[in-house]
Amino acid sequence: MQQQVDSMAAEYGRTPSLVVIQVGNDPASTIYVRNKMRAAEFCHIRSQHLSLPDSITEQELCAHISRLNDNNDIDGILVQLPLPAHINEDTIIRSINAEKDVDGFHPDNAACLWLHQPLQTNHKASIYDPVPDYGCTIACTPKGILSMLASTGVELDGKRAVVIGRSPIVGKPMAKLLLDRQCTVTIAHSHTADLPAVCREADILIAAVGKPKLITKDCVKPGAIVIDVGISRLPDGTLSGDVDFEACKDIASFISPVPGGVGPMTVTMLMQNTIDCYKRRLNGKH
Ligand code: GUN
Repeated sequence: MQQQVDSMAAEYGRTPSLVVIQVGNDPASTIYVRNKMRAAEFCHIRSQHLSLPDSITEQELCAHISRLNDNNDIDGILVQLPLPAHINEDTIIRSINAEKDVDGFHPDNAACLWLHQPLQTNHKASIYDPVPDYGCTIACTPKGILSMLASTGVELDGKRAVVIGRSPIVGKPMAKLLLDRQCTVTIAHSHTADLPAVCREADILIAAVGKPKLITKDCVKPGAIVIDVGISRLPDGTLSGDVDFEACKDIASFISPVPGGVGPMTVTMLMQNTIDCYKRRLNGKH
């Protein structure tokens, strides 16, 4: 990625740039933002961490975003979630120019994913380029998961996929991406009856709930691929995923750890999304 960024910067006379906005001092957000800033530096992407106080009003935050929307030198804007309770996340996400929405959370980007098929039908997924071009920004975590799936070498066409969780950030876009890769997809959630039986149908099981060790060995079909998106802090201070890793690791053919699995892939895809926003803006496709 560094070489790609360096050669584009030399060719176009401008380096891709990303602004990450953090409101308040939530410790988990601070770690996530730090990881994003480090990755940008590693990739030679120009980056800025805009740290704003908890007391900021929604209007003031929108004014910061508006200024960044209007700045032609900025390619990507990310507002770290969650936001303080007095700020409406939906309002903030909508206030980001969709061209600069490197998270892919803006309704224009989400709608583009849901309403369209990818522009190329002959795309060969690789870990570096896991999704075909939809002409819009795709959320980083589901994109990172497709990259992990590509790394397993498993053919997705015709597979049964179960996605647990229906958030607009992970569950829903994940389901659509897998559908477009010809999987038969079930979205399970907190009201799903007999969750273990539904999970056992899965060749590809993706847990994105945030409930530590929800997925026990009774939920995993032998040989299944298990991807753990959840990350929760336990009372003893350690981190846990949604999957009981120790119990499931010998049943699954591939299992992603927490921490260290999906998280780093999400950050990598954020860098790729920043580069893609830069390229689309340079090409005047928006
Ligand atoms: N908080 C947790 N995950 C994410 C993410 O992918 N993007 C943003 N903006 N905030 C998050």
